[in-house]
Amino acid sequence: MKKQLKVSPSILSADYGNLESAAREADRAGGDAIHIDIMDGHYVHNFSFGIDVIPALKKATGIPLVAHLEIDNPDVFIADFADAGADMIVVQEDTCPNLPRTVQSICRCGTKAGIGINPDRGFDKLEANPEILKQIELLIVMAVYPGFGGQPFSPAALPKIEKAAAMREQFGADYDIGVDGAVKEATIPGIVGAGANYLIAGSSVFNDGNVKKNINTLRALAEKSLVKSYRV
Ligand code: DX5
Ligand code: ZN
Repeated sequence: MKKQLKVSPSILSADYGNLESAAREADRAGGDAIHIDIMDGHYVHNFSFGIDVIPALKKATGIPLVAHLEIDNPDVFIADFADAGADMIVVQEDTCPNLPRTVQSICRCGTKAGIGINPDRGFDKLEANPEILKQIELLIVMAVYPGFGGQPFSPAALPKIEKAAAMREQFGADYDIGVDGAVKEATIPGIVGAGANYLIAGSSVFNDGNVKKNINTLRALAEKSLVKSYRV
């Protein structure tokens, strides 16, 4: 199944003193969605942004805002993020005791739903409740443990991307397959070759300040890798 390639800059690596201009720049540079990691200092050993960052960035950009909830107990905040204007809410499956209910409550808010899978976790909850697969728009294979930008890539993500693609086929679903963590020039051929089409990139987009050039480079490499993987 050929899915459109998407590059989503993660503002975790942007200059926090200039978030508005970082989001605007990512938009103008051709980013497909702004990825906003929400961290609670509990599920992960770090803090990042709160709910109010969503309406603030909404004023700066017209591309979708994706709230990636790296928090415990996300269920109690779903309505808040939806009301704040998140276009998509991504929950980590290991934080959801009843994943079908969580996905349903995201969808009921009129918001797109996504699920993130940590490096040490499998797809058991999804396989046990395959109806979820048709309700989500994005399945993120985490190539790092949530919490920080700039971590090394876990190669264990690659067979999981393949599995995510096989599940999509098997259950007639249509979600994008995302990778979050260490998406950069060195890892993109493998990631795209394995079947991911949605690239979430923090440090490789923002670290050196050349946002437009970086997005173009990542996208061009991904497109090239995509063509190659279809030839095989
Ligand atoms: C990690 C976050 C990622 C992070 C990735 O907790 O979910 O979105 O921004 O950063 P890089 O691209 O630097 O690995
Ligand atoms: Zn993220």
